[in-house]
Amino acid sequence: MRKLTQAQKDRIEELIRQMTLEEKIGQMNQESPSIVGGFTVPFGELIEMLTDGRLSKEEFGKIMSESKQDYHEDDIRAGRVGSLMVQDPAKVNELQKIAVEESRLGIPLIFGLDVIHGFKTVFPIAIAEAGTFDPDLMKKTARMAARESKAAGVSWHFAPMLDIARDARWGRVSEGPGEDPCLASAFATAKVTGLQEGESPDDPYVAACLKHYIGYGACESGRDYNTVNMAMHVFYNHYLKPFKAAVDAGAQTVMAAFNDLNGIPCTVNKFLLRDILKKQLGLPGFVVSDANAIRECINHGIAADDLDAGVQAALAGMDMDMGTGIYKNQLQKAVEEGKVPMEVIDEAARRILSTKMWLGLFDHPYVDEEAMHRYDVLPQEHLDLALEAGERSIVLLKNEGDILPLDPSAKISVIGTLADQAEEVVGAWALSWRKEDCVSLWSGIQKEFSKAKYFPCGGPEGSMNEEEITEAVAYGDVIVAVLGETIAMSGEASSRADITLPGKQHQILEKLLESGKPVVLVLMNGRPLALGWEDAHVPAIVEAWHLGIRMGDAVARVLSGKKNPEGRLSSSFPAMTGQCPVYYNHPNTGRPASKSKFTSRYLDAPLDSLYPFGYGLSYTSFDFGNLNVRDQGDVLMIGVEVKNTGKRAGTTTAQLYTQDVAASLVRPVKELKRFAKVTLEAGEIMRVYFELPKNELGFFDNEGKYRLEEGLFRIYVGQNSRECLCQPVELKF
Ligand code: BGC
Repeated sequence: MRKLTQAQKDRIEELIRQMTLEEKIGQMNQESPSIVGGFTVPFGELIEMLTDGRLSKEEFGKIMSESKQDYHEDDIRAGRVGSLMVQDPAKVNELQKIAVEESRLGIPLIFGLDVIHGFKTVFPIAIAEAGTFDPDLMKKTARMAARESKAAGVSWHFAPMLDIARDARWGRVSEGPGEDPCLASAFATAKVTGLQEGESPDDPYVAACLKHYIGYGACESGRDYNTVNMAMHVFYNHYLKPFKAAVDAGAQTVMAAFNDLNGIPCTVNKFLLRDILKKQLGLPGFVVSDANAIRECINHGIAADDLDAGVQAALAGMDMDMGTGIYKNQLQKAVEEGKVPMEVIDEAARRILSTKMWLGLFDHPYVDEEAMHRYDVLPQEHLDLALEAGERSIVLLKNEGDILPLDPSAKISVIGTLADQAEEVVGAWALSWRKEDCVSLWSGIQKEFSKAKYFPCGGPEGSMNEEEITEAVAYGDVIVAVLGETIAMSGEASSRADITLPGKQHQILEKLLESGKPVVLVLMNGRPLALGWEDAHVPAIVEAWHLGIRMGDAVARVLSGKKNPEGRLSSSFPAMTGQCPVYYNHPNTGRPASKSKFTSRYLDAPLDSLYPFGYGLSYTSFDFGNLNVRDQGDVLMIGVEVKNTGKRAGTTTAQLYTQDVAASLVRPVKELKRFAKVTLEAGEIMRVYFELPKNELGFFDNEGKYRLEEGLFRIYVGQNSRECLCQPVELKF
């Protein structure tokens, strides 16, 4: 893990001594280019017009292309900007030159951007990639994103997004690693290491920015930006875990979440920022607000005005203001009036300078000319990794009668507008891709299936073309229906109150099924969908998420059987929306759901999720047996036999769960503790071992105190969180 040297620390202190108050506050100010001119209404209203349809995408694009951008050059020159959001390397160098050569102290800018699941090489969205259960792969994709973005001058990623999310109505479930803290922690460690650590001294690295700290994924009813109430034991045991893992792995920076947590917005929450994040976890770098979030404290009803919001944020430990200008405009006055002590400003400036120093920006502020164009054409290695990540993220949900894989010479009708839209493969929050790199499903399928034919028929946008459906059904021996969500239906500000297939897609499926021909449903989507109806009626279902630039190839290779699916669900899928939030590791109740009426259940929904966390099928089958738990003092040694009982090689994920049967707090019915990928030839058997330190069987109470309580535990091992072998053990610590 890279740390600052004493000489670098001294250099920072020297700068702090030389800086004026205005210059220190300047470091705490992040700007993005402001759009100026070319339109007559305020920019915010323009966005509203685009959202509510008063303005078409084309009209908006035209206005943008005619407008000018203000890059705040004068403020940079005056030392009033610490960071900017820009991704054009030539622009980065131009602005950096002003900061380094024309500002009084020559402090470099740090350029940040949302690089959530790849930069030019876009990989699967996080919820999908987490389902590979493969931290090495997660690290490799982060490494590649770091190299690519650094070549464009972006050395700070607003990633990884580590929000545990249990409610699929929330649009941002797509950006994070799912519902489980253990998997999310493995994801966090892999991503931070991949971003921040090169493989050799000259391998480029960037600073991670963990977000959204914290509890954003628990927004009430899955509605974005909504309030969050959470018991503190849930906070410590579930939501904080991936953040802790990431800081332990050396993460430099953190972005605070928009929401309030138990009544105090994270932006001004001293307990969260100073006590937990900085003191307890030991964050080395700085905290940035989310976009506009300091000003939103006025809407939260916690601050009277800009000055009040800025003062509260600074006092709470918020080091950098994203986009409001409140620090820039109000903090000097606040310090002069004694509302914010100078030490608070010094600390923020010191933390920001320290991340810049850690990144080497003082010595190498510019993007070198040669690197700038390194990824104008994506190297084969990048395309290959995108394909591998795509293929391995695909989850086979259902395969009745072994319809899949399909015969490459079969006549296949490919249905659905999503199938032919190359730009739909990248998923929410992908900003730097090029359309020519994206492989649509239709173009991938054509390479694998010579007799495939495409019929748009309709899609998530609400359309349905019955004539095309009739033609499609007449042509194909098999129908591949590519349905789901457009990328605009997940991600930020994209919560949905009904998470069934949008538009007329359900009717399209009904019509296809009426034909009696075999139907394979391939889903492109950014959240768990409510698939109760589809599961009951469609024989084969493939969850393909938004898989990034090689999506079409990845899906086609799974359909043809060149790739045997191995992805697992990182989030439970409900049968119907009303079950949300539905997650496997829920607390025990006094009346666990059962067939009996007076239990914790709905009258009109199944007792449990449709597909549980960790679930996913293969073209072969696996059997787990002979679970054995040995108490070896400080550790439990857990062994299980895994057998490939099918006719071809394949990969499964052995998952170890535990349950504390009687504790001083209500505990989850199961908690993932370890997982291992197992690849076996047909008929092969392997014994898999997990070593579990007993001190991992404790939990945090509401005061944040870790408790290890002896008594009965259940040890579960299985292929998903529902189907497990179980062995009870009595433990003393
Ligand atoms: C999002 C963040 C993102 C930021 C900067 C905000 O709206 O919530 O996730 O990093 O914008 O683009």
